[in-house]
Amino acid sequence: MKLWGGRFEQGPAKLFEDFSGSLAFDRKLLEADIAGSKAFASALEKVGIFTLAEKTEVHKSFDAILDDSQAAGFFDGADDEDIHTFVIRKLGEKAGGLADKIHTGRSRNEQVATDFRLWVKTEIGAIDGLLTELMAALVDFAKREPQALLPGYTHLRRAQPVLWAHYLLAYFEMLCRDRERFADAYRRTDVLPLGSGALAGSGFPFDRQAMADELGFDRLSANSLDAVSDRDFALDFLYAASVTMLHLSRLAEDWILYSSEEFGFLDMGDEVTSGSSLMPQKKNPDACELVRGKSGRVSGHLLSLMMTIKGLPLAYNRDMQEDKEPVFDAAAQLEGCLAVMRLTVETAKVHAGRMEAAADESWVSATALAEALSRRGVPFHRAHQIVGALVLESVRAGKKPQDWTTEELQAIAPEFDDDAREMLTARRALSNHTVPGGTSASSVNDALDEASHRLEQMRQEG
Ligand code: ARG
Repeated sequence: MKLWGGRFEQGPAKLFEDFSGSLAFDRKLLEADIAGSKAFASALEKVGIFTLAEKTEVHKSFDAILDDSQAAGFFDGADDEDIHTFVIRKLGEKAGGLADKIHTGRSRNEQVATDFRLWVKTEIGAIDGLLTELMAALVDFAKREPQALLPGYTHLRRAQPVLWAHYLLAYFEMLCRDRERFADAYRRTDVLPLGSGALAGSGFPFDRQAMADELGFDRLSANSLDAVSDRDFALDFLYAASVTMLHLSRLAEDWILYSSEEFGFLDMGDEVTSGSSLMPQKKNPDACELVRGKSGRVSGHLLSLMMTIKGLPLAYNRDMQEDKEPVFDAAAQLEGCLAVMRLTVETAKVHAGRMEAAADESWVSATALAEALSRRGVPFHRAHQIVGALVLESVRAGKKPQDWTTEELQAIAPEFDDDAREMLTARRALSNHTVPGGTSASSVNDALDEASHRLEQMRQEG
């Protein structure tokens, strides 16, 4: 069955039908297409195309189709052009000639835009839940290891000590912003295109507000040309998904490093690691590697849709059919990654002793020492020079910070007082960072409380 054909002398080539059909992937829009079609049937009744009894029959038929769709093999043998054609054929099987009226004043252009928006809205809801659960897992990990300390890095060189909890909360913040980005994408997706017709607005005075209410859309599109050709909402979704994936990828990369023999800070659970077919000793961080890998794929989807939209003249063009697969795949990959990262976080264990030893044997306390000098009136530039000289001397002599005695320190620079030695532990250096947002135990404690509170709110909203 086709929704067109009168104007043609012969049918399309099988080759072209296979090439252009979208049912293989847009079948994901089945529920949305049925919901949209039911709302549209209600609108048709109000303008007198359906009687009340006919509308009721059409609604019942759509519900029956939804029921049927639960059975395995529902799409077997279907060769319809797209999901919209498929659903109308199914309606015909249930409601006979009424199916011939369902498309009165309706175009697939507005229909696909409506279906896609409904689908994206549902998916954002699912992603929001997964994000919240991953954030909860990070907070739980932070609470499990409130004392653990690691050398914080810049340029992947040991820089200053930070609490493990502080490190985890950095990712909590990123994911918090990701939630906001998705909420923003949702707001722009929450617009009803139905009533826009093919491009010029419907030729019937449909009650668009009633359709929006029935479908749960917040508002109506304001311009029919825009409504059928706008895919910004899909780009917003892909951007939010891409940024979230970048965050997951950075976490994955950190943990691939931290769990390596070279770092030895972290053990990943057997649940999320794999062995080697040849090397019996291997425990590879495959889950994290796949998350890192898939982040490229999802960003690729964003770029793919941007390029698809780039040169399209208003309004609808068939190119737009290329919008769905990137979005469907981005959602599936992101959801998989969020779930797997949650399990990764839940099953990871830190080696707090090794992390702290790595911090203590390095010069992560150097800044705190220079700052201690400057607190006692040594100009910071001079303090920086002195501590720099101490580090250079340590490198030359193969000494660790704790190897220095007070006398030796004072021989390097008289400004070092009796407390200087004490400054040379990572734990002590940490305690200076009491500013809000800093990594002292008290600041991190406050941040953890605040994060738990936010989580509570998210769960209540969700
Ligand atoms: N499968 C099409 C899509 O995804 C549906 C809309 C088709 N409209 C049209 N005028 N050919 O965009």
